[in-house]
Amino acid sequence: MRTHYCGHVTEALVDQEVELYGWMHRRRDHGGVIFVDLRDREGRVQVVFDPSVPDSFLVAEKVRSEYVLSVKGRVRLRPEGSANPDLPTGKVEVLCHELEILNPAETPPFMLDEDSEVNEDVRLRYRYLDLRRPLMLRNLTLRSRVARTLRCYLEDQGFMEIETPILTKSTPEGARDFLVPSRNSQGEFYALPQSPQLFKQLLMVAGMDRYYQIVRCFRDEDLRADRQPEFTQLDIETSFLNDEQLMTLMERMIRTLFAEVLEVALPDPFPRMTHAEAVARFGIDRPDLRIPLELTEITDLMKSVDFKVFTGPANDPPGRVAALRLPGGGELTRKEIDDYTQFVAIYGAKGLAYIKVNARAVGREGLQSPILKFLPDDVIEEILERPGAEDGDLIFFGADKAKIVNESLAALRVRLGHDRGLVEHGWRPLWVVDFPMFEWDDKSSRWAALHHPFTRPRVKDAAELEAAPGKATSFAYDMVLNGTEIGGGSIRIHRSEIQSTVFRLLGISDEQAEAKFGFLLRALKFGCPPHGGIAFGLDRLVMLMTGSPSIRDVIPFPKTQTGACLLTEAPSPVDEDQLRELGIRVRTPAS
Ligand code: AMO
Ligand code: AMP
Repeated sequence: MRTHYCGHVTEALVDQEVELYGWMHRRRDHGGVIFVDLRDREGRVQVVFDPSVPDSFLVAEKVRSEYVLSVKGRVRLRPEGSANPDLPTGKVEVLCHELEILNPAETPPFMLDEDSEVNEDVRLRYRYLDLRRPLMLRNLTLRSRVARTLRCYLEDQGFMEIETPILTKSTPEGARDFLVPSRNSQGEFYALPQSPQLFKQLLMVAGMDRYYQIVRCFRDEDLRADRQPEFTQLDIETSFLNDEQLMTLMERMIRTLFAEVLEVALPDPFPRMTHAEAVARFGIDRPDLRIPLELTEITDLMKSVDFKVFTGPANDPPGRVAALRLPGGGELTRKEIDDYTQFVAIYGAKGLAYIKVNARAVGREGLQSPILKFLPDDVIEEILERPGAEDGDLIFFGADKAKIVNESLAALRVRLGHDRGLVEHGWRPLWVVDFPMFEWDDKSSRWAALHHPFTRPRVKDAAELEAAPGKATSFAYDMVLNGTEIGGGSIRIHRSEIQSTVFRLLGISDEQAEAKFGFLLRALKFGCPPHGGIAFGLDRLVMLMTGSPSIRDVIPFPKTQTGACLLTEAPSPVDEDQLRELGIRVRTPAS
């Protein structure tokens, strides 16, 4: 029976007998004496094999990397001068008198050290080895502490953990569903939940009052560094709380989490910003407040200048012209500006006009820019004045449909922040509130829900909503941390007539609504309490807390950017028999 974890063998155990189990991390032969670093989950310890104990010495000569060993021995202080200050066990070693090889191992495909750079595909294929590395172990350990701290907080606040189905019906969170064919009803499908949204609302109708669940969600969408096709939410729903009360409870939870797990004091309260302000100042609804750069509105100034690139969007209702001032940006080279121009092109920007401010006091002569010739003096003066331009600055401009200007300048702002070393240290949480209820979708020429169709609009009745759907904001809120959306939720519609109006505005007919969400609409009529909730992306939260560059680094068995599991080689073809049972014939994909 193990007496201690390797990582826990310290001076306190000197002269004691210990029994350890672990993996052979490294072996050094030193003229007659063999040193083995034995490693387990908690760390590693040096084990010494001396020829004076021939039984174990002979076995020790055979052990190779990652062999599984059991060691019995006595703890002693390392000799003067040979302590390792970098290891918690660095002052001691274990003199082994009994060694057993429990299992040999093939040579691992990569070194399991902290600092060895390994191709991610190889790491994922041999994930069980990758997870032995200290960094991954630390990430998963922290993840477990995060989950425990969140659970404790919620249980203390009277929340109940309740499970909801995985084989279910489509939930409208805006992504594509993963479908599971039914064998009993051939031609019919379950959908894996994009979130437990509808079930948690039903739990409120059922009177559960405070629900939470750490739950897997599935979304078939394009993957990025902070997105996985299956990911984990901390999902929450409450009854009889308004948005203020819920947000207070939730930000206290996140403050408690950071205090307990990272010993970081987050601001109290978190700052708030309306969606409109976030988009105006940062071009995005999840601004990274660590970057001290902001957009400046100049649409109004450009309405009557003689420069079509700017006047066009300035006079087009969905258009926008905005400036982004980069302090000290005057030193950017032509090549750097060209690179940034190419960068914004990814977001659809057709160019990236700029003005270098060499000497503002001199007027036009003190400026350098390809667009000066199009602009009168008073306009130039005002576009320098508004963002507070100083000598040595550079101002970038975007002019297009607002969506393109916002997306390109928001991305440029973040890129400049990183390139120019402007990103402040620390944690900048933020609530973004007052989201529009709907956004107009050009492609389908109809309204789409910005959050989801169960979000309560800020209107007094259905008629007000119907009169001006584009004007309505909603009781939705997102929690943003350092530019990542870590959580989002809303107060829900609890009256069936408002819910029907929202469906109608979204172009969902009564029949479609009945087919898709009839069970929810019916439930709303059976005494549904006012309710609302939120869901946090647990993986994203842990990614930020561990400083990981990718969400994959905090998920034990993640998928690649193409949705593949390199370890199991899923997805994979299935037997013809299996398909026949399900009543499925596969169409060969066009190549
Ligand atoms: P939403 O869709 O905003 O809301 O999701 C909540 C949070 O889940 C995280 N998240 C993801 N994390 C990793 N990979 C993904 N593909 C992914 N998609 C989302 C984000 C996000 O903030 N039912 C509502 C919540 C509610 O209204 O209560 C919902 O799912 O951090
Ligand atoms: P042009 O007249 O096309 O040479 O453009 C003059 C300057 O305006 C160049 O610096 C372009 O990069 C820039 N520019 C062109 N289109 C846009 C746009 N839509 N938004 C911002 N700058 C633009």
